[in-house]
Amino acid sequence: MYSEKVMDHFKNPRNVGEIDNPDGVGEVGNPVCGDIMKIFLKVENNTIVDAKFKTFGCGAAIASSSMATELVRGKTLEEAWDVSNKAVAEALEGLPPIKMHCSVLAEEGIHKAINDYRKKQGLPLWEEKHPHSHEHGEDLTCAH
Ligand code: FES
Repeated sequence: MYSEKVMDHFKNPRNVGEIDNPDGVGEVGNPVCGDIMKIFLKVENNTIVDAKFKTFGCGAAIASSSMATELVRGKTLEEAWDVSNKAVAEALEGLPPIKMHCSVLAEEGIHKAINDYRKKQGLPLWEEKHPHSHEHGEDLTCAH
C-alpha cells in the first residue's frame, strides 16, 4: 500500500522534535481523525534555516511532516509557501488516495508556521491560494 519512501520516512522520520526559540510555530489538526501536527521554523534573512516537527498521528502524517520539513529547509519563505501537499506526496513517491489528506496537514502546518513568523514580524499574513476545505466536498476523511 505504501511506497518505500513513505515507509522510510515513517520508520526514520527526519527533523523530529522542537526548536528552541522558534521564529514560527504552526499547529494544525484534522478534526475527523484527531491527528495533530506541530511545525517549528527557524528563519534567517527570509530563508528557513531549520524546520522540525512533532506529529501525533498516522504513519502517512508522520512521513508527510518528515518530508515537508526536509523540503522547506533552505527555501525562502515564498518558495516554502508554494510547497503544496501534492509536492509532499510526490516527493514521497505517492500516497494512497485515502491518505492524501494526511499530506494536507503538512502543507497547512507549514503555512501556519510561516504566518506565525510573519505576524511576529508585523508583516501582513499570506492567504491560502488553494484552501483545503474540511466541509466542502474535498475528501479529508481519515481511514485508519
Ligand atoms: Fe488522520 Fe492521517 S492524518 S489518518
